[in-house]
Amino acid sequence: MEEIDIIKPDDWHVHFRDNEILKAVVPETTRHFRRSIVMPNLLPPIINAEQALNYKKEIENAIPQSDNFEPFMTIYLTENINKDELKFAFDEKAVFAAKLYPAGATTNSDSGVKDISKIMTTLETMAKIGMPLLIHGEVTDKKIDVFDRERVFIDEKLDNICKKFPELKITLEHITTKDAVDYVNDGNKNLAASITPHHLALNRNALFVGGIRPHNYCLPILKREIHRKSLLKAAISGNKKFFLGTDTAPHLKIDKENACGCAGIFNATYCLAILAQIFDNEKSIDKLENFVSKNGAFHYNLGLNKEKIKLRKIQEKVVFRRYVNVGNDKIKIFEPDFPIYWRVDNY
Ligand code: NCD
Ligand code: ZN
Repeated sequence: MEEIDIIKPDDWHVHFRDNEILKAVVPETTRHFRRSIVMPNLLPPIINAEQALNYKKEIENAIPQSDNFEPFMTIYLTENINKDELKFAFDEKAVFAAKLYPAGATTNSDSGVKDISKIMTTLETMAKIGMPLLIHGEVTDKKIDVFDRERVFIDEKLDNICKKFPELKITLEHITTKDAVDYVNDGNKNLAASITPHHLALNRNALFVGGIRPHNYCLPILKREIHRKSLLKAAISGNKKFFLGTDTAPHLKIDKENACGCAGIFNATYCLAILAQIFDNEKSIDKLENFVSKNGAFHYNLGLNKEKIKLRKIQEKVVFRRYVNVGNDKIKIFEPDFPIYWRVDNY
């Protein structure tokens, strides 16, 4: 048996939703993670300090007594965002960062930004006050192939933002392409990227194995193997610019297995076991702690967690729970197409 102790991980990109779904999924994250950045794409979106604090309370009420967990809240950028309110929310520590969704890019992004030039003065304020910008990096132009939307966003939007505001702390979220890895690698010191477990585990073939696989559908969509390989190389490199943001994104089964299925993969439950297996398969288990527990904290100028967790490799492959129940429906837990022999101790 093999085992490793690592600093307790953080998940720098989660969707907790609200109401019944929130109650069902919060413990799946708080069981293993110490801190998370919580996405603001609710209906209606979180756009001010008051909403963020109310939402934080709802999350805190759902954390099991046994778990020591801190949610970091975010504000959803719109073209009409009030800069003073944004600054107030940040100064009062009601929120930690702001999220840029290009309008129409993903789930609940309709109130997002159509024209980035309209938020330039907001970005200037954020750079000044040291507030991180989290970016969903895809263009939304229907003429652009869905598999090219991240690359085109980098060329046409991100590069401009980085050049205009080199002091702005930017996270290019859930990167999916070699283009993104290369751009972030070569970018200034304030630019980093989060990577999800599913983009490390799967390529786009996983969308069509013997039929259409709605539970592997997320945005940005899975890409070719060459891109997965590049993400994997970045994740296991130990390079501080790359860290875990699971983008765990629960949707009810009925909304996934649907003629117009929602984008999003719910991976909170087994993501650390899956990542341990992926790193182990690459003979890089020694780099797991950098990716899940250190690099994100470095990027956000936060201290490292004091707690540790133990991961064990066992003989038998792990049998996964398949669903989390929510009322009369349920949410499918992400399960990769290879065996997992790792588990988080005591679980
Ligand atoms: C996310 C969701 O469902 O909120 N979906 C997804 O496919 N990743 C939104 C997002 O992060 O793009
Ligand atoms: Zn997300």
